[in-house]
Amino acid sequence: SFVVTENCIKCKHTTCVAVCPTDAFREGPNFLVIDPVSCIDCNLCPVECPIGAIFEEDDVPEDQKHFIALNAELAAEWPEISIVKDALPDHEQWNNVPNKLALLER
Ligand code: SF4
Ligand code: F3S
Repeated sequence: SFVVTENCIKCKHTTCVAVCPTDAFREGPNFLVIDPVSCIDCNLCPVECPIGAIFEEDDVPEDQKHFIALNAELAAEWPEISIVKDALPDHEQWNNVPNKLALLER
């Protein structure tokens, strides 16, 4: 399945959710995840993320492999999101900031 990775944290543009045919996205306070059970690997969402946070599971960067399990874990807890909303207010200053995982809110 496809996986949301670190750069989404504290940005959360949500444009990805508009194209998903199975409503596979789940929403937390400052991050989105993809439910691996719902994702059908259609490959529509990666280009919709303006900051390149979505990867096919096999293409997740080596230093972010832990996000595969994290998407599955949080997808079981968080509610579905299928309607685009505003990005988080400080998204520009957080784009490409390293080590944002410590800032993930659950
Ligand atoms: Fe949804 Fe397709 Fe992205 Fe999977 S790859 S999360 S089915 S848009
Ligand atoms: Fe996150 Fe990109 Fe979607 S920032 S909410 S994965 S459009």
